Amino acid sequence: MLLHTISEVREQIKKWKKEGLTIGLVPTMGALHAGHLSLIKKSVEKCDRTVVSVFVNPIQFCPGEDLDKYPRTLEADEKLCAEAGVNIVFAPSPKEMYGEGHILSNDFLTYVIPPYFYTDKLCGKSRVGHFDGVCTVVNKLFNIVQPDYAFFGQKDAQQLIIIKKMVKDLNIPVEIIPCPIVREESGLALSSRNKYLSESDKKEALALSKILFNIKACYDKGITDVKALTETAYSFLNGHHSLEYLEFRDKDNLEEKNVADCNTQVFIALKIGNVRLIDNILLG
Ligand code: PAF
Repeated sequence: MLLHTISEVREQIKKWKKEGLTIGLVPTMGALHAGHLSLIKKSVEKCDRTVVSVFVNPIQFCPGEDLDKYPRTLEADEKLCAEAGVNIVFAPSPKEMYGEGHILSNDFLTYVIPPYFYTDKLCGKSRVGHFDGVCTVVNKLFNIVQPDYAFFGQKDAQQLIIIKKMVKDLNIPVEIIPCPIVREESGLALSSRNKYLSESDKKEALALSKILFNIKACYDKGITDVKALTETAYSFLNGHHSLEYLEFRDKDNLEEKNVADCNTQVFIALKIGNVRLIDNILLG
């Protein structure tokens, strides 16, 4: 069932809650791919009812980012969701989510602001305000859908860590279920933004997973010095890549690591042309 309004969703949720059914939420921005489908599958298996939200959230895009050209494929998304056993696809408009004038500056909207320690690094460094927009919309979706479980991909690892922190700090009654990264056979992590890549860009994009897999192999052989592990990356980079960051941080609280251990997550962001791609790997 495709629903566009908050009141329609609320009405249906009320009925399910009355029947004692468990509800899973998979928040997405649409352009669904096999990565999203793996989250949806998990929800359908675990919960009595599954809601997938499809909303390109304007407040998590920074000025100059790809808000206008972000792929919007609602018809195809709805079809995939129906085939996967989703009960509600919730696809609101920005006006439905943010009100009449939908004035999106934080002078006019109540925002959920995650702690600066979690947002001043990695993607948050270049995408200032991005995680405020993510936490605000996810919080709104939690309030609208009131899910028992919410499913998030580990590909957006910083987002996942920040959402877990928000849920804990604000006592939100939802269990966050992290889901593993889905990769193409080549190693490339699936992302809706892969749609922007040409065939040759896609080859260049393999640098991300190659760097991460190589670091993991070195760590498994016993190299734990982060400087030494970082240096292994450079042989995979060429003039087509611009490395935004390659960082070793704690998988739960994002503290920086100088010596890698089993709680170390390696985060990478790379630009190929105008396309910014991210990936990560847990060493433990
Ligand atoms: O990961 C995403 O697609 C988005 O950041 C999310 C969680 C759906 C919020 O808009």
